[in-house]
Amino acid sequence: MIELWNKSTITNLSMENIEQWFDVLNQGLEEDRGYQLDDPNIELIRETLKAEYIAYLKSLPKNKAFVYYFVFRNDDQKIVTVCRLMKYKSKYVLEGLETHRDYYHMGYATDIMKQMLPILKRDRVERIHSYVSCDNTASIHLHESFGFEEMSVNENRIQYILEVEPTLRRILFDRWSENYNKDVAKSEANHTYPFSGYSELKYQLLLVIAKRPNRKVLDMGVGTGEISIPLYQLGFSITGVDLSKEMIDIAKSKMPKATFIHASFEQCLLLIKKKYDFIVFNYSIHHLSLVEQVKLLIQMRDFLKKDGKILIGDVATRTSKKMEALQIKYESVWDEEENYPVFDRYLESELQSYYDMEYKDIDEVTGLFLLQNKNIGG
Ligand SMILES: C[S@@+](CC[C@H](N)C(=O)[O-])C[C@H]1O[C@@H](n2cnc3c(N)ncnc32)[C@H](O)[C@@H]1O
Repeated sequence: MIELWNKSTITNLSMENIEQWFDVLNQGLEEDRGYQLDDPNIELIRETLKAEYIAYLKSLPKNKAFVYYFVFRNDDQKIVTVCRLMKYKSKYVLEGLETHRDYYHMGYATDIMKQMLPILKRDRVERIHSYVSCDNTASIHLHESFGFEEMSVNENRIQYILEVEPTLRRILFDRWSENYNKDVAKSEANHTYPFSGYSELKYQLLLVIAKRPNRKVLDMGVGTGEISIPLYQLGFSITGVDLSKEMIDIAKSKMPKATFIHASFEQCLLLIKKKYDFIVFNYSIHHLSLVEQVKLLIQMRDFLKKDGKILIGDVATRTSKKMEALQIKYESVWDEEENYPVFDRYLESELQSYYDMEYKDIDEVTGLFLLQNKNIGG
C-alpha cells in the first residue's frame, strides 16, 4: 500500500520508519559513491553516509520544492519502494525512485507508480517528469513499460514525461479488458446505463458499414474488438487504435490480420498512414472533453476518404436537456468523468463547418451519429 509522507509526516517520523526508509536506499551506497568495501574506515563511511541521508530527509520540510514522499509497504508492512515528488517552478519531477535490493523484480516500483497516480490526479498534477541515466537499463525499462515518453537526452540523462490522466485511463482499461464484454452484456440485459441498446447500436452501425463491402475501417478505441470483429470476418480491412495494450491483445487474438496502433487518440494522429472509408468511435469519444472531441473529429478529416463516414455510437441524446434528464435518472451510477456526445452541442460547434451531421436515437440511453464531409460531389 502506498503511503504519503508530507512535510508534517516527515517532521514527526519515528526512528523505526526512518531506519526502514534508509534501508531501502542503503544497499550499495558506499560502492555507488566510489568507496571500497575493504576500506578500513568503511564503518565510519557508512555512518557518515547514513547521517547525510537522514539529514537530507529531515531537511525536506524546509525545502520549497518538496511536495511529498511516496512510500510503498509490502504486505508485511515493510517499506520496499520509495520516491519523492518535487516541484521546480511549475514542473513536477519524480526523484529518488528506489526499491530495496531484496525486493527487486517483484513489481513494487510499478505498484508505487500505479498507486501514486490517483493522488496526483486528486492534487491536479497533470504530468510528471523523470530523469534517468542512460546507463540505468532497469530504470529505462521500467519507465518505458509504464508509459513514460522520452522527451530528450542531455548529458547522459534521458528526460521522460508521464501524462497522469491518460495513464490512469489506460490502467483502468487494462484492468477492465478481461470483464469488459461481460459487463456490457449485463448492463444491456438490464436495459440500463451505460450499455443499454449496445447490440442494436452495433447492428445499426454495421448496417451502415456493410453496405459498402471490403472497405477500410478505422476503429478508434477498438477495445476488445466487438464492433470490428464481424466486419473483419466479412473481409473489411481493420485498423484498431487503443491506449490499452490488454484490450488490443484481446482484439488481436480475434483479428490476427488486422492492424493495431497502441496509442492515445492524440498520439495516433502521427501514426496513421491511410485514409479510411469509415471511422468508428463506439463508446470511446466520451473520454474526451467536448472541445477535444470537436478538435479530434476535425483532425480526422485527414484520414477520411472524400466520401467516407464517421460513425459515433455512445451514450448520447439529441438535446442537452435530454442529457440532463438522463443524468438525473441514473444519478447514483452516473460517471461524472465522461462527456457524452449530444447532437445539439455538435450542431452548435465548429463541426458544422466541416461535416453534414445526422443523429438517431437507439434507445433512451444510446444514440448513433453519422458525419460526412460537407459538399460531397458539390
Ligand atoms: C468503453 S470501451 C469501448 C470499446 C469498443 N469500441 C466497444 O464498442 O466495445 C472504450 C475504449 O476506448 C479506449 N480509449 C479510451 N480513451 C482513449 C484515448 N484517449 N485514446 C485511445 N483509446 C482510448 C479504451 O482503452 C477502451 O478500450
